[in-house]
Amino acid sequence: MSLLEYKNVTMQFGGLRATDDVSFKVETGEIVGLIGPNGAGKTTLFALASGFLHPTKGEIWFDGRRVDRLAPPDICEAGLARTYQIVRPFGEMTVLENVMIGAFLHCRARSDAEEMAAQVLERVGLASRSSQIARTLTLAGRKRLEVAKALATKPKLLLLDEVMAGLNTVETDQMLELIHSVRADGVSVLVIEHNMQAIMRLSDRIVVIHHGQKIGDGDPSAVASDPDVVAAYLGESYQGKHANA
Ligand SMILES: Nc1ncnc2c1ncn2[C@@H]1O[C@H](COP(=O)(O)OP(=O)(O)OP(=O)(O)O)[C@@H](O)[C@H]1O
Ligand SMILES: [Mg+2]
Repeated sequence: MSLLEYKNVTMQFGGLRATDDVSFKVETGEIVGLIGPNGAGKTTLFALASGFLHPTKGEIWFDGRRVDRLAPPDICEAGLARTYQIVRPFGEMTVLENVMIGAFLHCRARSDAEEMAAQVLERVGLASRSSQIARTLTLAGRKRLEVAKALATKPKLLLLDEVMAGLNTVETDQMLELIHSVRADGVSVLVIEHNMQAIMRLSDRIVVIHHGQKIGDGDPSAVASDPDVVAAYLGESYQGKHANA
């Protein structure tokens, strides 16, 4: 049984088919990359799996349960957590308080939530920022905070939406390291990213979306040399640069 499975999922917004008959799986322990041009429908797939949208057609299964009609808190409780493309911390709250919100999913007492949030902040390298007001973090800090908020819900599967966008090379490498360490702790990961070098290094498998449809699914090197994927998204220059890699 796969951890997450999209089965022939279609999402229609009026006249626009944002997701068109998409099927793919994420297995336990995998890091899967989700790539495709702007507007391809990647974030929509995250909103569908996390209960913020319900598909027009098709089914989504998570950890043995059909989840496409469930509400977001129920899906989060089942072990699926997501980050947001537009980072949106509760700006006037501290970094610790932001993470405590996630921790309250499993902790009743404030002191327990606080302890768990502190552990997660340690984990993502933000412990020294605990008492800082969230909106004053750098972009790299806010991206880490997004990951921390999601990790505090103790997910089995983490959906990361462009957590490396806008980061410099060093910050990107640190985020890659963090994602690998999260997986080493037993959390599976589905990650949307436009930074091709980063996603190719990070992922066990890559799924490619174009105009709402899946046009590729395979290991990174196979996807990078697939003519349809190159034509739709990667471009000849990417293939040329990485052909011998
Ligand atoms: N709630 C909505 N109502 C109407 N249209 C929507 C809605 N959400 C997304 N769309 C449209 O669906 C399409 C897919 O959007 P989506 O945000 O999933 O793309 P994306 O692949 O994440 O793009 P990007 O790489 O730019 O983040 C776009 O045309 C978008 O305008
Ligand atoms: Mg998006």
